[in-house]
Amino acid sequence: MKTQLAQYFFEQYHHQPTVIVRSPGRVNIIGEHADYNNGFVLPAAIDKAAYLAVSLRDDLEIHLTALDLNEQFSTTVDELKPIGDVSWPNYILGSAAQFLKHDIQLPGFNAVLTSNVPIGAGLSSSAAVECATVFALNHLLKTNIERVPMVAMAQKAEHEYAGVMCGIMDQFASMMGKANQVIKLDCRSLEYEYVPFKLDGIKILLLNTNVKHSLASSEYNTRRLECMQAVEMIQTNHPEVLSLRDATIEMLDQYVLPFNDLVYQRSRFVVDEMERLNQACQFLQDDNISALGNCMFKTHDGLSRQYEVSCKELDYLVNFVRSRNEVIGARMMGGGFGGCTINLVQEDKIESLISVIKPAYEEAMGLPLDYYIATIQNGTEII
Ligand code: GLA
Repeated sequence: MKTQLAQYFFEQYHHQPTVIVRSPGRVNIIGEHADYNNGFVLPAAIDKAAYLAVSLRDDLEIHLTALDLNEQFSTTVDELKPIGDVSWPNYILGSAAQFLKHDIQLPGFNAVLTSNVPIGAGLSSSAAVECATVFALNHLLKTNIERVPMVAMAQKAEHEYAGVMCGIMDQFASMMGKANQVIKLDCRSLEYEYVPFKLDGIKILLLNTNVKHSLASSEYNTRRLECMQAVEMIQTNHPEVLSLRDATIEMLDQYVLPFNDLVYQRSRFVVDEMERLNQACQFLQDDNISALGNCMFKTHDGLSRQYEVSCKELDYLVNFVRSRNEVIGARMMGGGFGGCTINLVQEDKIESLISVIKPAYEEAMGLPLDYYIATIQNGTEII
C-alpha cells in the first residue's frame, strides 16, 4: 500500500510525499445512536483504512487526488469552502479548514488519498479520511495538537463540510483505536478506557447489504432533533436534564409519552440502549459472550422498530442468523438505512455460514452480499 501510494504521489506531483498516514474505519459493538445523546459507545478501529500521502507547498494551492477514483480536485487555502456535492474532497478540505479556525497558518498542500474502507457501508470511511488529514497536517505543521482535540476537529469537518451532524464516535474510534481492544467511551466527558476484546474462537464478521446508506439524507439529523425534543419536554420539569443521558424511563413516561408517541419511541430506544450498553460491558468483562450477543440482537430490534433506522436488507440478514448457533450476536451497525451488520461468529463456521447466507440474501434481495472478517487494529498512525 505504502509503496504504491508513494509512487502514485510521485507521478502526480514529481516529488516524494513528506508523510503517509493510515487511519482506520471502525466497528461498534454496542451503543448505537448514543454518542450524540451523551451516552457510552463501544467502538474499535479495524483493519480497513484510509491512507493519505501529503506534502506541504510553498504557495496556497491545494491539490488533491483520489487514487481509487482517479479523480482530482484543486483549490486554494483562501478559497476553502465545502464543494457542492458531498464527495471525498470535502472530508479533506473540511479537515484542513479546522486549522484555520484554530488560527493556525495553513500553506497549500498536495495529497493523494486511497482507501479500502468500503464507502457507504457504515464503517466510517469519511471519518477515516478526516482523521488522516488532521493527523497528517498536525504532523507537517508541527502544531502538536493532542489526539482528542484532533478528534473534535475531524468531527467538525463532517459537520461543516459534509452536513452530517454526527456524534464523536467514528472519529474517536479511528484516531484512538488500539489493537485487540474496544474503547468504552463516555461521549459526555470524553473519558475512555480500553477493554480487551479477545474472544476465543470468535470473529467479527461484517455483512455488507450493499445498500448505500446516505446519512446526510436528513433522517440522521431528524433523529437527533427528535432526541432533543424529548430533552426539551423533560426540561420543563427537570431543567437539570441536559441530554438523554440524564433522562430516566420514568421521566419519559411522565413528560413525553402523553404528548408525543413518536418522540417517546425514539427517546425510549436511546435510554434503553444506554442501559443495554452497561449490561453488555459487564457481560464482556465476565466473558459471558452469549449474553453480550443477546444484547446485540435486542439493539437491532430497537433500531429497527423503535428508532426506525434499519431497512429490509439489514433486517433480513439479522433475522437469518438469529437462530443459528454459530452466531453469538448480530445487529445493524452505524447510522443505518443500509451498510453492514456486525456479527460475532464462531470462526470455524464462518465459511459454511457464508455459503448459505450469501445465495439466500442475493436471491431474496436482488443485491450482492459482501463480507469481511474484521480484526481490531491501532488507530491513526504514520506509516
Ligand atoms: C454514524 C455517526 C456516529 C453515530 C452513529 C450511530 O456513524 O457518524 O456519530 O451517531 O452513526 O451510532
